[in-house]
Amino acid sequence: MKIKILRQNNPESEPYWESFDYNGPADNSVAGLLDYLNYNDDIFNDAGEKTTRIGWDCSCLQGICGACAMVVNGMPVLACETFLNDLKGNTVIIRPLQKFPVIHDLIVDRSSIFENLKQENVFIGEYRPKDNEEYQHQYDAAKCLKCGLCLEVCPNYTTGKTFFGAVFANDCYLVSARNHQKAKDIRKVYEEHFGSSCSKSLSCMDVCPMHIPTIASMAKLNSA
Ligand code: FES
Repeated sequence: MKIKILRQNNPESEPYWESFDYNGPADNSVAGLLDYLNYNDDIFNDAGEKTTRIGWDCSCLQGICGACAMVVNGMPVLACETFLNDLKGNTVIIRPLQKFPVIHDLIVDRSSIFENLKQENVFIGEYRPKDNEEYQHQYDAAKCLKCGLCLEVCPNYTTGKTFFGAVFANDCYLVSARNHQKAKDIRKVYEEHFGSSCSKSLSCMDVCPMHIPTIASMAKLNSA
């Protein structure tokens, strides 16, 4: 199997493609593949040239932390949840998420997600249990990994602009549902940073690894 990876030494340097031959298990995940390529002390590309270890992030390897978010064969996915058996063809093309600044190789700086939430004071304060249906929706919204896949696929999101994307909409719903004192302010910033600019492609829901029903969060906030 041929593996093509878009690499970048540091935030200031130019990205470049480097290819590798992969002869490991066919049922590996993309995370397993990267581990396999990085396994030896000396790493060689497919031209036989010695190269450096491939930088990528992971923590849980169970689809929980979101750290391994990257783009594989054109799709934003979690590397630990994406299996080679499910990919088409004999070439795997891997690149970092494009909506965030690259730190090193496949590692990106997603701090803008948290800065957007901090900027508008969208985080949980007092907890208020609701009826069962509401509680289930709150529970689903709270599963957000902040992995950035929803922003990667969103046609409206660009880092640094005023549209903050699905991750922001779900947290707006969650915080306003749990803290009535904040609800009015939250609805205002929701309108400013999401409601007025979402074109409802809903591609965010297609790629969300936690299957968060963003459309339900939007419906609640829009009606409010
Ligand atoms: S390593 Fe945690 S989601 Fe992949």
